[in-house]
Amino acid sequence: MRVAALSYSLIEATDLAAWRRFGEDVAGFSAHPHSHGLALRIDERAGRLFIVPGSTDRYAGSGWEIASEAEFAAAKAELAGHGVEWHQGSRDEIALRHVFDMIWFRDPAGNRHELALGYVTGFEPFRSPAGVPHFVTGPLGFGHTVLPAPNIAECRKFMTEVLGFGLADILIHRPMGPGGPAMRIDFMHCANGRHHSLALFEGEVPSGCVHLMVEVPSLDEVGRAYDRMLASGARLMATLGKHTNDHMTSFYMMTPGGFALEYGFGGRTIDWGHHTLFESTSVSLWGHDFSVGFGADEKAARAAA
Ligand SMILES: [Fe+2]
Repeated sequence: MRVAALSYSLIEATDLAAWRRFGEDVAGFSAHPHSHGLALRIDERAGRLFIVPGSTDRYAGSGWEIASEAEFAAAKAELAGHGVEWHQGSRDEIALRHVFDMIWFRDPAGNRHELALGYVTGFEPFRSPAGVPHFVTGPLGFGHTVLPAPNIAECRKFMTEVLGFGLADILIHRPMGPGGPAMRIDFMHCANGRHHSLALFEGEVPSGCVHLMVEVPSLDEVGRAYDRMLASGARLMATLGKHTNDHMTSFYMMTPGGFALEYGFGGRTIDWGHHTLFESTSVSLWGHDFSVGFGADEKAARAAA
């Protein structure tokens, strides 16, 4: 199977207005009400984040782009061949996502994945209410998503053997310090040069997502977003820093969905024909202090560790 890119993410929300405010005032996305939800645009497509009304605030699914009808038909056959139970998207679901067709299924951790054929748009120029000139999207997809996978080995096998993702590198994370429990993160790429479109985190995450990432074209745009976060009262989840693996310079802030948004620039692209799998023993070259986002109980657990 050939997944071209991360096409969109689906979010369930108790308060669509909160997402509209966060999108427009902080992230710089443009918000477009739709009969089945809210579309947040970051480029010429009709939406990259689709917010649907619901009883909880959570991440609800990842939309993976399939580029052609032939590949879409082949992908459905492959899923069936692997014994994956997939479901046809409804007319309303397809309408909100602005795609030709969509099917969905769950990975071994229960995360919802959608395969989406193409996209539908009027190609109206993107106009950020916050003056962001553009986001880095196109063939690289809209960004990346990090999903919970307590059964990470099973999920990694599913993503590589069924969906055709590649493993870029891994990180063994010890959130409580050097002697604490180890959690693995698998950084995975699909058929484009973005270092990772998906990462699997070996742990439970109640909101259904660790973070989403969007990329802007300059450090100034990262800094301007940081200023807007401070002005809005949105919660900082990690200080400015630069990641060891994808070289993204970014900060993290909390969204109304109960997961973080990583806002970065300068991510490197990879020629997968000339890449060797590695393990990085540090998440960042500098910065990215995640303790700023910890609650009091987590800080106490860290201090005791
Ligand atoms: Fe990230």
